Amino acid sequence: MRRTVLKICFAAAIAGLALGVPSHPAKSPPKHDTTVLILGGGVAGIIAARTLHKQGIDRFIIVEARDELGGRMRSTRFGAEGRRATVELGANWIQGTQVGDGPANPILTLAKKHGLKTAESDFYESIVTYDETGAVDYLTTLANAVDAYTNLTVVGGGRVPKKQVDTTCRTGYSLVGVKPKTPQEMVTEYYVFDWEYAQTPEQTSWIASSWANNFTFDVDQGGFSDENLLSVDQRGFKHLIQAEAQTFLKPGQTLLNATVRTITHSNDSVVITLANGTTISADYAITTFSLGVLQNDDVLFEPALPIWKQEAIQSMSMATYTKIFLQFEDKFWFDTQFALYADTERGRYPVWQGLDLEGFLPGSGIIFATVTGDYSERIESLSDAQVQAELVDVLATMFPNITIPTPTAFLFPRWFSDPLYRGSYSNWPASFVSPHHTNLRANVGKRLWFSGEAMSQRYFGFLHGAYFEGIDAGEKVASCVLGKSCKSLPFVELISNANPYIV
Ligand SMILES: Cc1cc2nc3c(=O)[nH]c(=O)nc-3n(C[C@H](O)[C@H](O)[C@H](O)COP(=O)(O)OP(=O)(O)OC[C@H]3O[C@@H](n4cnc5c(N)ncnc54)[C@H](O)[C@@H]3O)c2cc1C
Ligand SMILES: *[C@@H]1O[C@H](CO)[C@@H](O)[C@H](O)[C@H]1NC(C)=O
Ligand SMILES: *[C@@H]1O[C@H](CO)[C@@H](O)[C@H](O)[C@H]1NC(C)=O
Ligand SMILES: *[C@@H]1O[C@H](CO)[C@@H](O)[C@H](O)[C@H]1NC(C)=O
Ligand SMILES: *[C@@H]1O[C@H](CO)[C@@H](O)[C@H](O)[C@H]1NC(C)=O
Ligand SMILES: *[C@@H]1O[C@H](CO)[C@@H](O)[C@H](O)[C@H]1NC(C)=O
Ligand SMILES: *[C@@H]1O[C@H](CO)[C@@H](O)[C@H](O)[C@H]1NC(C)=O
Repeated sequence: MRRTVLKICFAAAIAGLALGVPSHPAKSPPKHDTTVLILGGGVAGIIAARTLHKQGIDRFIIVEARDELGGRMRSTRFGAEGRRATVELGANWIQGTQVGDGPANPILTLAKKHGLKTAESDFYESIVTYDETGAVDYLTTLANAVDAYTNLTVVGGGRVPKKQVDTTCRTGYSLVGVKPKTPQEMVTEYYVFDWEYAQTPEQTSWIASSWANNFTFDVDQGGFSDENLLSVDQRGFKHLIQAEAQTFLKPGQTLLNATVRTITHSNDSVVITLANGTTISADYAITTFSLGVLQNDDVLFEPALPIWKQEAIQSMSMATYTKIFLQFEDKFWFDTQFALYADTERGRYPVWQGLDLEGFLPGSGIIFATVTGDYSERIESLSDAQVQAELVDVLATMFPNITIPTPTAFLFPRWFSDPLYRGSYSNWPASFVSPHHTNLRANVGKRLWFSGEAMSQRYFGFLHGAYFEGIDAGEKVASCVLGKSCKSLPFVELISNANPYIV
């Protein structure tokens, strides 16, 4: 956990405040330290700030606990001395790109604008398969799993149009006649499902996961495309959002190394208290903290949030997606981008990605495995040495004729335990109905607004979800600041039944 106390930057921020002329005409001196506090410097926070800036509002401060902007776009140098490469600990893909001049994923637009280096990620063609006996071709089982998933989203959207009460994707799979039993059937389902949602079909809403898939990947349903680009940029995927921030941020508008502990909201202000006791007041605040942070009281609200808000926060799920990186002296594995490993235990080190490939990180000797959901939580409680031993063991199973050498480097991030995230991204469970989500997004009073990936009804979990929510919260607050209409978002005081779903 980073608890670094803010230093130089705070003085700069205060100086900026003192000197900063409000961009809108004010007859009396400003009542508070700043006009808008943007809490969190990830995609949602940066785009909310850009939205305010575009509306002529430059009196804002982004408050961020870490020592850089980007949030869950987070990279690191990995590898043995003299042989390091940048790898992505968090977001890595632009998911859904663009077809022709159809709607573009805004993250793709930013990637082009800032010259990001990406590689086409081929989930279904560039893949080989293994099980507990070594290399075994079960690509037809994989093709079936892809089909089964499509059937799931079709029936999920149309069984009883707009009147269906939600159930889990496990119910959905069973109703479309898909009941995986063998390790190969389980791992291919995992690849198509858990590897995207970071939780199991049992833990996931049938309806919401289907529309989430459609709105990102299905062009006929308003999606961007079914393609995925993997960032291989050695400045890190975060470069696109950091470079975008630099196009408009001025000194004093960013406070790094500043961890928020409490958010005190009233009818005329929001006051935050940082870990070192410093307080900053504002007319408005937009929190972009992850759902996991909101759920775990890492930041306290005073007064406590109303029950309808707390119920919404606690009822959506924060899933975990964990990439585990290994580096070896020499590459000894597959030449495809992906490999599946079918263990008898569903979810045990199922997906492997090689980076030592032309167009990716050739010569790097880096391969990584992904685990998700409860399995991520399990390994976070183990030591690095224990997890490394398990992975080497799986590699030995996949490659029975090879003596697996000792890795030259090993690393995995613990997103679930990190008090700045408490997981990797949100997932929509079956017991979470549309009015809950309305309440999750809603402002509390006129001063306190909520943004971030989880607030996106269509794109929860994704970078582009955070992006669109940043614009939305920025516009709503700008409208209040500029004295135009200051309309609250709707909320439902008492959710009494699961009404039809409206997207
Ligand atoms: C492992 C992983 C893989 C992913 N893969 C993809 C992918 O391939 N494609 C995709 O589209 N999306 C992916 N995502 C999801 C994507 O990263 C997120 O949806 C998006 O980055 C969220 O942005 P945000 O602004 O809503 O939240 P964040 O990025 O979490 O921003 C919130 C900020 O608040 C800060 N903060 C938290 N607590 C405090 C505090 N108390 N005080 C001050 N600051 C605080 C955090 O440090 C953070 O910078 C992935 C995420 C993870 C973790
Ligand atoms: C908190 O940190 C900032 C920056 O280092 C400093 O200016 C401020 O005085 C600190 N506040 C307290 C109460 O220590
Ligand atoms: C934040 O903290 C880090 C690590 O302690 C330090 O290197 C960096 O200079 C600080 N950044 C700012 C802007 O205060
Ligand atoms: C998907 O649905 C079609 C049409 O009902 C059916 O023919 C096909 O077998 C289904 N696929 C799977 C894998 O269940
Ligand atoms: C998803 O798209 C399919 C078409 O591929 C459609 O039949 C279905 O109704 C959609 N589901 C939802 C929940 O929007
Ligand atoms: C805001 O004002 C309303 C009525 O004017 C009051 O009921 C409410 O408690 C106030 N909220 C806060 C956070 O002070
Ligand atoms: C591994 O060795 C066995 C026995 O020598 C042999 O039959 C098999 O083809 C080998 N497998 C690979 C992948 O080389």
